Amino acid sequence: MCGIVGYIGTDKALPKVLSGLKFLEYRGYDSAGIAFVKNKSLNILKEVGRIENLDKKINAQEETYVSIGHTRWATHGKPNVINSHPHKNGKFTVVHNGIIENYVLIKEKLIKEGYSFLSETDTEVIPALLDYNYSISKDIMVSIRDTIKELEGSYALGIICDDDLKHIYAVRNGSPLIIARDEKGYFLSSDVPAILNFTNKYILLDESEIAKLSFDEYKIYDTNLDEIRKEEKIFDGTPDSAMKGNYEHYMLKEIHEEGKVFKDTLNYYVDNYKFKNTMPNFKKYNKIHIIGCGSAYYVGNIGKYLIEEYTNIPVLVEVASEYRYKKNFYDKDTLVIVISQSGETADSLAALRKAKEDKIDTLAIVNVVGSSISREADYTLYVKAGPEIAVATTKAFLAQTVLISLLAVKFSNNLNLLKEYDNLEKHICNLLNNNYEKYAEAIYKHEDTFFIGRLIDYALCLEGSLKLKETSYINSVAFQAGELKHGTISLIKDGTPVIGICTDENIINKTISNLKEVKARNAYVIFITNEDIDEDFYDLKLVLPKVHKLVMPILSIIPLQLIAYEVAKKRGCDIDKPQNLAKSVTVE
Ligand code: AGP
Ligand code: GLU
Repeated sequence: MCGIVGYIGTDKALPKVLSGLKFLEYRGYDSAGIAFVKNKSLNILKEVGRIENLDKKINAQEETYVSIGHTRWATHGKPNVINSHPHKNGKFTVVHNGIIENYVLIKEKLIKEGYSFLSETDTEVIPALLDYNYSISKDIMVSIRDTIKELEGSYALGIICDDDLKHIYAVRNGSPLIIARDEKGYFLSSDVPAILNFTNKYILLDESEIAKLSFDEYKIYDTNLDEIRKEEKIFDGTPDSAMKGNYEHYMLKEIHEEGKVFKDTLNYYVDNYKFKNTMPNFKKYNKIHIIGCGSAYYVGNIGKYLIEEYTNIPVLVEVASEYRYKKNFYDKDTLVIVISQSGETADSLAALRKAKEDKIDTLAIVNVVGSSISREADYTLYVKAGPEIAVATTKAFLAQTVLISLLAVKFSNNLNLLKEYDNLEKHICNLLNNNYEKYAEAIYKHEDTFFIGRLIDYALCLEGSLKLKETSYINSVAFQAGELKHGTISLIKDGTPVIGICTDENIINKTISNLKEVKARNAYVIFITNEDIDEDFYDLKLVLPKVHKLVMPILSIIPLQLIAYEVAKKRGCDIDKPQNLAKSVTVE
């Protein structure tokens, strides 16, 4: 969610900070701002809307070598210039990602101490509290340490103090932040791809560690303010892996990477029809809970069908924001699986922490290497999707589906099933090269659509419907096909698009009956199936290759993603950065 970039070094700072901020646009934001040191004083510029608006106000060639920048996704207070970051109060200037939950209490305390506040944000208490603590300790590091002891909630912070314009300080809790270096200086950033144009060497800042960046070095301190050594990592993607290349949108590029993503994820865990030791042994578990948000939760639904189909292990799937607050029935033989592309989703992280507090084993399925969820889970299985920039997930969803199907095989102990992955890459490639224009044409002028399917196809409906909503802003509802007639069918009007998915021969006639019911009420039926059916109940048919049930969802999802993309394009939507959405939701 939103982003932070900072630079200190011997190169001019603004081109680097702006380049990083532009890259972070994909995370979702509504305003942007920058602070930089020039002629021994700190300047702040902020603008509402896109970074170009800020860019126009800035002379990138400014003689400044110290700067912090921010893209804000408003949580407290409207997206206006006053609420935009950086926020300055007293001697401290701060950029912040996250939410300070106890800001009201801190604000009341500081008002009594004589502080006043300009913005409606929770963030503004941070520079004020830093200033207050600094007035007591007269030491910046001590004041940062004392301040983070008082803050509750999530934060990644970039900090500059008027008394020390030759350093940038950084600290995090809950929200991601990395520190990196190139030959000429030092960076802080919300993620690695944002600074890949300059360097691929970085360290992951752990919770409550304080980083102090200078012109010629960086140092990391623990909460006792003792210096600590951290292992430097090398990011193995190229800047290209995070660039759009010749594609019109990241979403399209990322969908077209799905063949490779499938292969990379499969080959990381399987060799010659056997699991490698990259896949741990999960023998002891006889109950599984799967947790995630949005698309990751839908992968969990696919996982439930597959694991229950091939094993006798019952699976409960829950949305993380519910799971974290409810009573959960688990014991030492339960495995809690948390699925997350970013590995930073606040609700998923909180649900993971809850399971850990209850001493339940946890497994994370994550894309972003080194993310909070991947580091805190007892086991982590990475999907090999590479950086995903478009806000709407596509290739990571496919990779998670591959991995959860492999887990179903692992739990079932039936290695014969691994043969079913054999021809998939070819099918993926064919599906990617099909033309989905006519399906998009039938949908894009409508304001309501339905996706219906049964069992595992219903899980696909949920994701297909979400993709359409996210990218094209068409209201779309996914329903279990048999459930529609219990009320929701009242919404079907002349021409309402109903997308029916059926890839299970055992229940195809049931789903077809439900499609006939909507057709009888003049719906426009798009039938997606892997069966050879030629009855007259649909307006358009989309034929999928017929493969084993275990791997079918890996194929079924592709047309749904491409149809959503084509519809969004026809409607002229901002496909990679849909309104109101953020890539990684690091707040509750
Ligand atoms: C995906 O298209 C969505 N924008 C969203 O549902 C996403 O899947 C969800 O926020 C979870 O994110 P995560 O996988 O990074 O945890
Ligand atoms: N909660 C802060 C605000 O609303 C920070 C939001 C963000 O992470 O961008 O200003």
